[in-house]
Amino acid sequence: MTSPLPASYSRISGTGSFLPPQRVTNADLAAQLGAKGVETSDDWIVARTGIRARHFAAPDMPCSDLAVEASRQALASAGIDASQIDLIILATSTPDMVFPSTACIVQRKLGIQGCAAFDVQAVCSGFVYALTVADSMIRTGAARKALVIGAEVFSRILDFTDRTTCVLFGDGAGAVVLEASDTPGLLATELHADGRYAEILCTPGAMSGGQVMGLPFLKMDGQAVFKLAVGVLEDVARSVLDKAGRTEADIDWLIPHQANIRIMHGTAKKLKLSLDKLVVTVDEHGNTSAASIPLALDVAVRAGSVKRGDTVMLEGVGGGFTWGAVLLDF
Ligand code: ACO
Repeated sequence: MTSPLPASYSRISGTGSFLPPQRVTNADLAAQLGAKGVETSDDWIVARTGIRARHFAAPDMPCSDLAVEASRQALASAGIDASQIDLIILATSTPDMVFPSTACIVQRKLGIQGCAAFDVQAVCSGFVYALTVADSMIRTGAARKALVIGAEVFSRILDFTDRTTCVLFGDGAGAVVLEASDTPGLLATELHADGRYAEILCTPGAMSGGQVMGLPFLKMDGQAVFKLAVGVLEDVARSVLDKAGRTEADIDWLIPHQANIRIMHGTAKKLKLSLDKLVVTVDEHGNTSAASIPLALDVAVRAGSVKRGDTVMLEGVGGGFTWGAVLLDF
């Protein structure tokens, strides 16, 4: 294999996504929780979050299966064969196993071998982190055709007796093919983390001596997350716009992490963007963590909303605490 050449830019050449078939509405979930004595309602969930439904993977469907389906779609939309991929980066907090990485399992399921493959763990910011790393590797010449994936089975780490968290999340996957290009492409990227806030959103359980030590379920201080998220999403969006020499007026589409419609509306408002520039899938997907941004991008591309040449702002925020943004010409 010859060494790839450094590229001026990276550009998304294809998108794909996958949702497991089981769709669970708020009413379905309220009925299931009610049977365990946990009270919630469609009204509460819609009013506080904008979520109406989410998809849950069957117990025998691992994260890599969702990722492979999304990847195949992305490869088809880019018009390339899996054998041409020379880098796989997969963002997840719900991997198939402790190791090997889910990216390596995806590589095997795609029937390819030899290229670099690794996971990125930045929770709901994972896809923005993965895309930024892939962009850097393409521009330094370490790769020319990357598969960048966000895939999650968050249903596996939800405590279905905790109504403050279990109504918020869903399972799914999204993927893009990112290729070396002479024209932009990704215009500017920025990543941040602040580990002082690790406890406000975490799944602390870890394996030790054959047992899970600590809580194996997601726990969250919702209000603390809310306050931090709105502030950092505005700051990082402005920062990537500055880096790219663009302004809010240049943004055709804002695709923030799909956690809560109120956070998303708050971010659009701070950036003075009308709500019809906001891509919203949280209503149908819930919060799919690292999968939410590539899923929303693919839905918007297939709906004919996001078109070639449009300027798109992707923004992630999540556990860590982590956040980041990517500004791109699609
Ligand atoms: N159904 C019914 N009632 C509920 C539910 C539920 N599912 N969950 C909580 N409640 C009750 C609470 O018990 C409380 O009752 P009380 O007043 O009698 O004590 C009441 O509703 C209000 O609870 P709050 O926690 O104050 O509700 P809030 O308005 O803050 O909304 C929420 C909670 C939706 C989690 C909000 O804080 C939020 O959106 N935070 C952002 C966090 C987020 O989106 N996280 C996603 C992951 S993080 C990420 O991806 C970045």
